[in-house]
Amino acid sequence: FAVRDLAGETILITAGGTREPIDPVRFLGNRSSGKMGYALAEAAAQRGARVLLVSAPTALAVPPGCEFVPIIEAAEMQQAVLAHLPEATMVIAAAAVADFRPSHVAAQKIKRKGPITLTLEPTEDIVRAAVAQRAPGTFVIAFAAETEDALHNARAKLLRKGVDAIVVNDVSLPGLGFDSDRNAAIFLTESSAVDLPESPKQVLAHRILDEAVQQKREQKAV
Ligand code: PMT
Repeated sequence: FAVRDLAGETILITAGGTREPIDPVRFLGNRSSGKMGYALAEAAAQRGARVLLVSAPTALAVPPGCEFVPIIEAAEMQQAVLAHLPEATMVIAAAAVADFRPSHVAAQKIKRKGPITLTLEPTEDIVRAAVAQRAPGTFVIAFAAETEDALHNARAKLLRKGVDAIVVNDVSLPGLGFDSDRNAAIFLTESSAVDLPESPKQVLAHRILDEAVQQKREQKAV
């Protein structure tokens, strides 16, 4: 790959869908395949970055040159992200982290005897914790998976989480977003919105990194 514009950067990327255990054999999960996060990891490594890939279980091979940190649950992802945060010059949170987990994990497989009720508790907000604990200059990019009013909701998320940028994808569109090979997004900052048109996730990953490099440079220049 010709452009090594990320040489010297250490990029911490989260990918995949976390799994929150219900009992020894069951979990709450989501439809994330990890493809978006892995495409970002591969693209960043090609461009010369050191890549730390914190990943929930996926069916994908670890991209060449990436350091792999496998996790399963949201709490483990949070621990891994915060442990590696001091090394990171950039964080890209592409993972679909569970927002809720069962408050209680059954020690034995739950028997199929009539209806049961699961009580859920919220998980920790990993991106928010990363923003709170980052060193000055560490550029943090979150994703926003929206199904309605994408731009409006993402703007609110950008401010609430305190991130430098947010990659908004409308996950209600057929053939895009979760568990597909293609995606489309808007790269949103407090003062800009750049449309990244539908393309294979590998191509979109490079476009996201282009925007990240430019924004990080502009931030430094201010
Ligand atoms: O994996 P693929 O099949 O390729 O699909 C890609 C994708 C649709 C999963 C990806 O493009 C995407 O949108 N990832 C973010 C999914 C998500 O959980 O979005 P959210 O709007 O719920 O969360 C916003 C941000 O907060 C995300 O950066 C998320 O990683 C982060 N988060 C969420 C919950 C939580 N408890 N802690 C977090 O840090």
